[in-house]
Amino acid sequence: MNGPLVIAIDGPSAAGKGTLARRLAAHFQLPHLDTGLLYRAVGLKAEKSGRPAGEIAISLQLSDLADPDLRTDRAGQAASKVAALPEIRANLLKFQKKFASQTSGAVLDGRDIGTVICPDAPVKLFVTASSDARAERRYQELRALGLDTIKPRVLAEMAERDRRDSERAAAPLRAAPDAFLLDTSDMDADAAFAAALAFIERKGFRSSGP
Ligand code: C5P
Repeated sequence: MNGPLVIAIDGPSAAGKGTLARRLAAHFQLPHLDTGLLYRAVGLKAEKSGRPAGEIAISLQLSDLADPDLRTDRAGQAASKVAALPEIRANLLKFQKKFASQTSGAVLDGRDIGTVICPDAPVKLFVTASSDARAERRYQELRALGLDTIKPRVLAEMAERDRRDSERAAAPLRAAPDAFLLDTSDMDADAAFAAALAFIERKGFRSSGP
């Protein structure tokens, strides 16, 4: 008999983690935490208020995660700057671990879920895609949000953020050794979901829903 199903999903920006996480959470009826939102909320609130990021991380409220500005690239850049600070990561660790240890199981997506937050998760996925495929997706997402941008700028900002996330000393972006690698460069969301589901079912987990 398996314990609770905890699905840890990591990967660089715009690789398709968020969409996959939401679909898996719906399929297995699990709560889902987009951990990037925590770092975005801390980074953006620190930038807007001028207050120290450490203080904001300690007193972060769930209502802070509802700010629509969190989806912007400004918030993504601010997030990856505060995410490099060990103090901020430590302050957000407890909340994420608690979310992951719910008896129902859970789905979390981010950069260090399989390596730091849930090193014992029974299912770890590392979702990636070529820089070009990711930049095109991000560009379409920003346009859909009505934000005016150009693709070379999206590509440059993404490369800068990826570099910062991979090269930082504190919990850098890495695939856990036991993660299933999913390259979505040539996959749509349905194909990525099907591949991830097949892997999870091979591990013996099935949806209890209809
Ligand atoms: O996933 P998302 O693009 O929303 O993440 C924003 C930033 O937050 C990332 O670029 C990364 O610097 C940081 N992050 C992190 N660890 C996580 C999730 C996000 O360092 N688990």
